[in-house]
Amino acid sequence: MAALKLAVLISGRGSNLQALIDACAGRDFPATVALVVSNNPQAQGLARAGACGIPTAVIERRDHGDRDAFDQALTEAIGAHDADLVCLAGFMSILGAGFVARWRGRLINIHPSLLPEFPGLDTHARVLVAGVRTTGCTVHYVTAEVDAGPVIIQQSVPVEANDTPETLAARVLAAEHQIYPQAVRLIAEDRTT
Ligand code: GRF
Repeated sequence: MAALKLAVLISGRGSNLQALIDACAGRDFPATVALVVSNNPQAQGLARAGACGIPTAVIERRDHGDRDAFDQALTEAIGAHDADLVCLAGFMSILGAGFVARWRGRLINIHPSLLPEFPGLDTHARVLVAGVRTTGCTVHYVTAEVDAGPVIIQQSVPVEANDTPETLAARVLAAEHQIYPQAVRLIAEDRTT
């Protein structure tokens, strides 16, 4: 089976991108990172991609008149690299319905909670306020509703009594780095159902 070509969309640090790059470097991993797109020219993840010789593109929302034009620019960049699967990895711009429909079934996201619990931003602070003892992370298909598409894989993570949003985020992030490559493998091997 040919390796899946990934387009990874980022806005910042890119640690999940790094986990995907590292997984793809493994001998039997059924995917390669074909392109990294950032909507933020300062994203640290761009340097991670550059260091590995992975093509990058910066596509900023403000350079495009409306959401459709921005989405079109993203689609063109992804298409130019023949990507099969679009992986959102800390991509902080909401995508338009047209983009989501075009890539439906080939567009995935990682979120730092056990969806459908705690969709949206500031997840870890809200988890601590809620007082739950277990949280985690989810890789899911992207649908029109934010953080609501079909789940591909989840991993639970304990909440410790003295956690801060930062200590909890670090524990969840380590789990994210495990499940994002696992999700890509499940899709590549057609084992998501
Ligand atoms: C991760 O926590 C991810 O779940 C969320 O944004 C964060 C991105 O981190 N969507 P990084 O840029 O991959 O380090």
